Amino acid sequence: MSATDFLGLWLHILAVVAYGGATLAVVVMVIPAANGAADAASRRSILVRALRIYDPLAIAVLGIVVMTGASNLTTYKAAMRGAFFERVGWLLVCKLSLAFMVIMVGTYITFGLAHRIVRAEGLGDPPDDAWLTSMTRRLSIACILSLVLLALTVWLGLELGHPSMYAIPPA
Ligand code: HEM
Repeated sequence: MSATDFLGLWLHILAVVAYGGATLAVVVMVIPAANGAADAASRRSILVRALRIYDPLAIAVLGIVVMTGASNLTTYKAAMRGAFFERVGWLLVCKLSLAFMVIMVGTYITFGLAHRIVRAEGLGDPPDDAWLTSMTRRLSIACILSLVLLALTVWLGLELGHPSMYAIPPA
């Protein structure tokens, strides 16, 4: 493996770890801390302080995952030539389908939920306890779903480089 490919794979894994770690932190640290707050105003401000950083971070690292993955793929395809699809076709189709779902759920978390909480604070909207409870519950569920999808994608990613007895049979 060339130095550039190795660097690409290293960045690919680091970005996956960063996304997983930050998303796990939202579920096990940020949301419980916010739920422990005395009132809706302090609850929202705890969420906003964390999500204001989480949003751009999550989008940036998911972008790095896709870009490094795509460059890895080019090398991979060149190395395997005609046997590419026969050897890793279905495995890659499954992995990229899961990766697509990780990115879709990740986009929903950042733009569909977290950004709306940050914007409500930014616009000075009066804190709404029922709305915050519903948004926080959806945020928690979406983050857990994203982590499960991420774990499955990591499994298939590892299968690409290190085929095991659980490997998806070639096409
Ligand atoms: C959330 C999404 C993703 C996750 C969690 C993920 C995870 C992984 C993991 C754990 C590996 C194994 C590294 C190893 O061999 O030790 C890997 C390798 C790889 N990934 Fe991804 N990946 C994701 C998205 C993508 C995307 C979108 C692409 C392509 C567009 C891609 C292309 C590749 C390729 C080609 C390899 C093999 C690299 C090599 O062994 O040289 N990945 N990925």
